Amino acid sequence: MVTRVGCIGAGYVGGPTCAVIALKCPDIRVTVCDMNPTRINQWNSDKLPVFEPGLDEIVQKCRGVNLFFTTDVVATIQESEVLFISVNTPTKTYGHGKGRAANLKYVESVAREIAKVARGNKIVVEKSTVPVKSAQSIADILKANRNSQNKFQVLSNPEFLAEGTAIEDLLNPDRILIGGEDSPDGWKAIETLSSVYKRWIPADRIITMNTWSSELSKLVANAFLAQRISAINAVSAVCEATGADVGQVALAVGKDSRIGPRFLQASVGFGGSCFQKDILNLVYICESLNLPEVAEFWLNVVSINDYQKQRFAKRIVNCLFNTVSGKRIAIMGFAFKKNTGDTRESAAIYVSAHLLEEGARLAVYDPKVEADQVTRDLNNVTGTPDVVRDQVEVCSDPYEAARGAHALVICTEWDVFQTLDYARIFAGMPKPAYVFDGRKILDHEKLTKIGFEVETIGKRVRNVSQSHPAAITNGAGSGDGATGLDSCE
Ligand code: NAD
Ligand code: UDX
Repeated sequence: MVTRVGCIGAGYVGGPTCAVIALKCPDIRVTVCDMNPTRINQWNSDKLPVFEPGLDEIVQKCRGVNLFFTTDVVATIQESEVLFISVNTPTKTYGHGKGRAANLKYVESVAREIAKVARGNKIVVEKSTVPVKSAQSIADILKANRNSQNKFQVLSNPEFLAEGTAIEDLLNPDRILIGGEDSPDGWKAIETLSSVYKRWIPADRIITMNTWSSELSKLVANAFLAQRISAINAVSAVCEATGADVGQVALAVGKDSRIGPRFLQASVGFGGSCFQKDILNLVYICESLNLPEVAEFWLNVVSINDYQKQRFAKRIVNCLFNTVSGKRIAIMGFAFKKNTGDTRESAAIYVSAHLLEEGARLAVYDPKVEADQVTRDLNNVTGTPDVVRDQVEVCSDPYEAARGAHALVICTEWDVFQTLDYARIFAGMPKPAYVFDGRKILDHEKLTKIGFEVETIGKRVRNVSQSHPAAITNGAGSGDGATGLDSCE
C-alpha cells in the first residue's frame, strides 16, 4: 500500500491534483514541492497561487495534516514511493524546434535530480504533458545514473483537468489514463498507481495501456478539443457573412449524437496554456516523423484560432469608424476562460495588443486577474512597456472600466458580465456605444433596446443604427445593404 506520494511542480496541475489525493486518501502523506519559494509560500498562505472553485476548502482541510508544500526537493524525492513530475513543458522559444517543440528542460532536470538523490525503489509518474517517448528519456536518465540500491518504474499518467473546473474534474474524471512498461514490474507499478486512484474513482474509469499510447493520447485529446473550437469558429465566419447564426448551427449539429453538443461554443478564440502548446508539439512530432500533411492538418487548428482573434480585433477597429486612436475601450475579462485567474495565451491579450497598436486607451477589468499580471502580459506581447504604462488602466470595478468607453469588449465569459446594469453603463458612454461580445454571453436584444450597437461572433445583430435610419451609421465598410443587416466588416 502506498503511504507517501510526492509531486515536483506546484502549479495549476500539481497543487490541485495533490490536494485531491490528500483529501481522498487521508492515510497517504502527500508532499508538493516547487523550486519557486514564492509559489510555495503562497500555497502555505491564505491566498493560494491558483484560483479554482473548491480548492481553498480542500487545502484548508488537508494542509498540515497530510498535505505539505515545500521547496525541499531532496526530501520530497527521498520520502516518496510514488513521485509525480508535474513541471511546466512550454513551447521552445529558441534553437531547434523553436515555436513548436516542447521544452523538456524542466522535466529533464527533475529526472536528473531524482537520479542523483533517490534511495530505494520509486515509481516516477510523468504527469506533465510531453512528446511521445519522453518517458523513455526519463527512464534512460534514471538508469544511467542509478546506484545499485535503486529501482525505478516510469509511468505516463497525463492530466485531463480543465482550469476553472479542476476540482470537479479531479473528483469525478471521465477517465484516468496510465501507461506503463509491458513487463511484470511495469504492471505492478501500474497497479500501485491505480490503487491510489481507486480510492475514489470507479475501476472501470481507469484505463491502462502502453506508455507511448498514453503520452500520445494526451496530445491528441487536446488537439481534438481545440479542433472542434476551430471548426465552429471557422463556421462563425460563414455565419457572419450569410446571416446564419452560429449558435443555431451548433445546436443543430450538436444534436447529432455522433457529434455531441460540447466544445461547440464559437468564441473570440481559444486560449490557455495547453491547446496551442500541445498542438504545436504534435505538429513538431509529425514534422520530425516526416509526415508534413498530418502536421499541416493540425497546424490549421492553430491558424484558424489566430485568424479568429485577428478577425475580432479588426472588427472592433472597423466598427469604431476605422480609428480607435485615443479612444477608451473597456476590455471585459482578461483570463483565458471564466473561473480562473490564468491568462496564459488568453485571447484578451491578443485583442488588447492589437488595439494598443492602433492607439487605443484600454480599461481592463477582470474579477480574478491582478493588475500586475495584465501589465506583464501586455509588456511581453507588445514589447512596448511605455505604451502599456501610458495607455492601459486596470480597473477593480466593471462600471469604472466602462465609464467613458466607446466600446465594451467581452473577452472572457465571466457570469458577472451577464448581470451588469447595462442601462447605467450605456448612460456613461459616448455614442454610438458599442458592445463586442466575443463570448456570445450577453442578451443582445436587450442591449440593442437600451441603445447599444452590438457585434458578436457568428451572428448579425440587428442594431440601433439599422432600426433607426436617421441614427448615426458607421462609415467603415458597412456590410450588405441588400439584406439590411449591417455589419462592420
Ligand atoms: P505551472 O507552470 O503552473 O507549474 C509548473 C511548476 O513547476 C512551476 O511552479 C515551476 O516552478 C515548477 N518547476 C519547474 N521545474 C522545476 C524543478 N526542476 N523543480 C521543482 N519545481 C519545478 O504548470 P501547470 O499548468 O501546472 O502544468 C504542468 C504540466 O501539466 C504541463 O506539462 C502542462 O502541459 C500539463 N497540464 C496542464 C494543465 C492545465 O490546465 N494547466 C492541464 C493538463 C496538463
Ligand atoms: C484544456 C482541456 O480541456 C483539458 O482537458 C486539458 O487537460 C488542458 O487543456 P483548459 O485549457 O483549462 O483545458 O480549458 P478549456 O475548457 O478546454 O478551454 C480552453 C479554451 O477554449 C478557453 O479559452 C475556452 O474559453 C475556449 N473554448 C472552450 C471555446 O472557445 N469554446 C468552447 O466550446 C470550449
